[in-house]
Amino acid sequence: MAQVTIHVPPRPYQARIENGLLTRAGALLSELLPQASRIFVVTVLPVRKRWGAKLVRSLTASGFKPRVLTMPDGEPAKRLATVEALAEKLARLGADRKAVIVALGGGVVGDVSGLLASLYMRGIELVQIPTTVLAQVDASIGGKTAVNLVAGKNLVGTFHHPRVVLIDPAVLKTLPDREFRAGLYEALKCGVIGDVELFLRFEQNRGKILKRDPVELEWLIAQSVKLKAEVVSADEHEGGLRRVLNLGHTIGHALEAETDYQRLLHGEAVAWGMIAATNIALSVHRTDSVTAGRIADAILSLGRLPEINVNPRKILARLQSDKKTQNGVVHFVLPREIGKVEIANDVPENAVLEAVEELRRISHVGRGK
Ligand SMILES: NC(=O)c1ccc[n+]([C@@H]2O[C@H](COP(=O)([O-])OP(=O)(O)OC[C@H]3O[C@@H](n4cnc5c(N)ncnc54)[C@H](O)[C@@H]3O)[C@@H](O)[C@H]2O)c1
Ligand SMILES: [Zn+2]
Repeated sequence: MAQVTIHVPPRPYQARIENGLLTRAGALLSELLPQASRIFVVTVLPVRKRWGAKLVRSLTASGFKPRVLTMPDGEPAKRLATVEALAEKLARLGADRKAVIVALGGGVVGDVSGLLASLYMRGIELVQIPTTVLAQVDASIGGKTAVNLVAGKNLVGTFHHPRVVLIDPAVLKTLPDREFRAGLYEALKCGVIGDVELFLRFEQNRGKILKRDPVELEWLIAQSVKLKAEVVSADEHEGGLRRVLNLGHTIGHALEAETDYQRLLHGEAVAWGMIAATNIALSVHRTDSVTAGRIADAILSLGRLPEINVNPRKILARLQSDKKTQNGVVHFVLPREIGKVEIANDVPENAVLEAVEELRRISHVGRGK
């Protein structure tokens, strides 16, 4: 089993990554949380149907009497009303300060459960059991919780680190193909940011990865978690270093918003955003064409991405009004070489416009093949 420690105050915690871990969740939690009064598993129906019984069996075998709370599925459920409904349920079921929330699901379940755990009785223990690639390599690590407002995504949230993150790559076998690949782009991102070996795996073992070879996935996820954990440990609250994790997200977020969050999954938007960032890096001479080609190939060879048909000027306008933009200066994370990025605040508008235009071109050429 791979174990990765996330060093954050007041207490470091671990992410454990191993195929079949779900069946050992009960034993692990009874060791880690001996004082737990009750366990409340928060999940969504598609995950409950496939993996709920396995988790409940494991918890029950270790002496817990878990209750499963099912919330509505999908991004629209990531709102305060869901947190409130779950909190009411907890209270009705008699959950006290020693109750533990176990989030079993993708990033939506993780974000809602995290916020719930941070608010209920001013904060109770949380365990993350992520079940999508995106949640395993990204959303479950780092302690960010959030829900959306009508005014924008992730505008209300807290920092609430879990007690432990239990990652079982075996649960990914029931994940829809598009969701699976969308998460892989975030793992690939970790390679580009700071792990050459991880990037090489994508180049060399793509077939195995796409076939969801369990050994390959376990390794890939563990490496990605290590990278994210290192960054988060060095910079808990996104002051400086943590921003490198935003590679592909500057333009990615703008693409998601410009298409009303309907056409692109988050990971797919990040994939296009990484290609755009790579092209920007090339045009402002931060990287060379061989590196840029390798990054674009690694992304595009994972499968077809949804077509991009946006107006580059509208993307630029969104970047300039983004909540993370400081004084109108857009910061870009740009790849330098494989495993190395830098943050640039001097990217000319033209380079951005051209990079977005290039996405449209690539996505059309892709379709003509
Ligand atoms: N907190 C953070 O740091 C952070 C980081 C990145 C993303 N996020 C958030 O994560 C969310 C996206 O998460 P996501 O991509 O995991 O989407 P998701 O949680 O909506 O899950 C995607 C779909 O897959 C289904 N599913 C999940 N696991 C499954 C499994 N093992 N088998 C079959 N189906 C399964 C879900 O029911 C859902 O329909 C966004 O809201 C995003 O803002 C948070
Ligand atoms: Zn992301």
